[in-house]
Amino acid sequence: MADRTETTAPNIDGSIDCPVLVTERLVLRPPHADDIEDLLALANNRRIAEMLARMPHPYGLVDALEFLAMAEQRATGCIYAVTLAETGRFIGCAGLEDWRGTGMEIGYWLGEPYWDHGYATEVAGALVDLAFRATGVDVLKASCRADNRASRRVLEKAGFTRTGEGVLHSRIAGQSPSLLFELDRARWIARLQAEAAA
Ligand SMILES: CC(C)(COP(=O)(O)OP(=O)(O)OC[C@H]1O[C@@H](n2cnc3c(N)ncnc32)[C@H](O)[C@@H]1OP(=O)(O)O)[C@@H](O)C(=O)NCCC(=O)NCCS
Repeated sequence: MADRTETTAPNIDGSIDCPVLVTERLVLRPPHADDIEDLLALANNRRIAEMLARMPHPYGLVDALEFLAMAEQRATGCIYAVTLAETGRFIGCAGLEDWRGTGMEIGYWLGEPYWDHGYATEVAGALVDLAFRATGVDVLKASCRADNRASRRVLEKAGFTRTGEGVLHSRIAGQSPSLLFELDRARWIARLQAEAAA
């Protein structure tokens, strides 16, 4: 869960201010040119690209520059660099995307050296809190490859439930079976109330 999010006026059109998000060990902030070296080192990893729809592999400077430009020009949703609060080190990316005008979708990847430290769990919690606090959307979506056990677990821990099956079209790995998840506002509020009561 995010420790702090600035709140903004609710909206349902996918436009959203994207405040810096602070969690227990992480800071999520806009990506910038100083991230390029770490971005290249971490993103150029087939194990990451094959779990995502749009990440190229190999991942080079042109891809990093395109990513930064896209993040800067974005009109809807948010794109974040995930960094370690203690050192400021860039460790991955995360985002909230408008989902066909009916909700928002969360996504994330972390560099392999940073896997299995609970960081994605913190990222997912922060994105969920932001989406429900800063927009009027009533449902969040997410999906992952059916064999992506880590991401499934991240989503389950963030409160998402499985709603169906689909197909992930990855630029690098082609088509794979995927699982679809949702978290609605009422469930999010119930979780917050349960946490507050514990
Ligand atoms: C998916 C990903 C973001 C997970 O990040 P992470 O920081 O390692 O996740 P966490 O440490 O928060 O772990 C979350 C849970 O998954 C579990 N987990 C981690 N790696 C796992 C694995 N290989 N198999 C099964 N479970 C795993 C953890 O044990 C934890 O569960 P627990 O708290 O019940 O023990 C990271 O592996 C990644 O970036 N992968 C490549 C890109 C990707 O898959 N992005 C998501 C696309 S949907």
